Amino acid sequence: MEFKRKILCIGAGYVGGITMAVIADKCPEYKVTLVDIDHEKIDRWNSDRLPIFEPGLDEIVKRRRGKNLFFVKDMERAIKEADIIFVSVNTPTKEFGIGAGMAADLQFWEKTAREIKEYAESDKIIVEKSTLPVRTASAMERILSSGNKGIHFEIISNPEFLSEGSAVKDLEEPDRVLIGYKDTPSGKKARDEIIEIYAHWVPREKIIASNIWSSELSKLVANAFLAQRVSSINSITPLCEITGADISEVSYAVGTDSRIGSKFLNPSVGFGGSCFKKDILNLVYICRYYGLNEVADYWEGVVKINEYQRERFVRRMLDAMFHTLANKKICLFGFAFKANTDDTRESSAIYVAKRLIEERAHLSITDPKALENAKKDLKGIDVNVKYIEDPYEAAKGCDAIAVMTEWDIYRELDYERIYRDMRKPAFIFDGRNILDHKRLFEIGFNVYPIGKPELIHHEPY
Ligand code: UDX
Repeated sequence: MEFKRKILCIGAGYVGGITMAVIADKCPEYKVTLVDIDHEKIDRWNSDRLPIFEPGLDEIVKRRRGKNLFFVKDMERAIKEADIIFVSVNTPTKEFGIGAGMAADLQFWEKTAREIKEYAESDKIIVEKSTLPVRTASAMERILSSGNKGIHFEIISNPEFLSEGSAVKDLEEPDRVLIGYKDTPSGKKARDEIIEIYAHWVPREKIIASNIWSSELSKLVANAFLAQRVSSINSITPLCEITGADISEVSYAVGTDSRIGSKFLNPSVGFGGSCFKKDILNLVYICRYYGLNEVADYWEGVVKINEYQRERFVRRMLDAMFHTLANKKICLFGFAFKANTDDTRESSAIYVAKRLIEERAHLSITDPKALENAKKDLKGIDVNVKYIEDPYEAAKGCDAIAVMTEWDIYRELDYERIYRDMRKPAFIFDGRNILDHKRLFEIGFNVYPIGKPELIHHEPY
């Protein structure tokens, strides 16, 4: 079959893989190919066990694979053949040198730009899909046009806003699609080509075209705003615990103001995930680079509150449990950074587990999907850690349960049975406020919700 256009995506990870599957599904006349240096990942994409789990993804891949969706290993051939190249390689936080721990590590991204330049034999549109610092497009353009082979590369920024667990739905029904372009005749032409792809299923008014720098920056700012909402509500939780206010009531009262809105105001033990911290630190780094220290401090505060919230959670455990956790058994309910995923990247559970291990507690970790990742995260420090899938078994003999992830199953457990099998006094620290605290207290637990006064059976002093 003759395809209208050939799209290539370099980087078959979370964002690239799912976005391309949806594009292939919605645009059958386009050939969509994914390539990755990780050949094992490509094999997985070509198998029945895809490298990532997302509701709805299996069906789409089955429907399109081999028809207009291909996963390949030959980078050179894939680049030569493509008209439009999406670059979706990872841009983690830099771990070395200047900007370590803050700036984005652009080595994979630059390597990709150089590969495109080396292999390309015809004009191409290059679409930045990875989250990148503002003005990265100009660096990419310089690399691509150096030692000019007479080939024109037009750079477009098209950041991705999908969220794990609802990625397919987020792509199929996005709030908006952002397309940043250069205001030149070739820039406008490229913009229209990318708009044409999304217009197959996204209403035209939801496709926003903007200047390329605005587009790059909007992605960082959107994530910073979302994380800031979580930190804002979390920052109020200690005040609630002390004064007797209830954070759920405060959150509801605040969120009903239509100017504020109710989403992303759930208090927690702290946000995790691969994006929030990384993107905020990246924003902070850029601000400092340009001498905007007040702005940098402001956004850095969002990450600091998150760290404070995690540490506060551990200290509350320590205070509640008579100032020592040594040799006590603590069961972590959940390890994933949020429910419905096996992803543990930057999960607050990692931080809490490490701190509890430092306090010489013994841990029993349970999670319906994330235990494999938990083992990797705690490798080398987990002599006193057990990984047990069944929550009843995991909690047996423990002094305390700490809820780390808001999995639905934890709401529905038989807590009378759990209480019977625990050491007394038994404690529950609900880091997600998903349990029925009053009921747990009646059963006999000492209950410590987030942002609400604790329910304890005896005064600690
Ligand atoms: C996020 C953005 O939502 C998405 O648009 C972007 O493309 C990538 O980063 P994701 O990391 O999948 O997506 O997770 P998200 O659902 O946003 O949650 C992030 C963290 O915040 C989780 O740990 C979650 O549990 C926590 N959270 C979220 C809260 O603690 N309270 C809330 O009210 C909402």
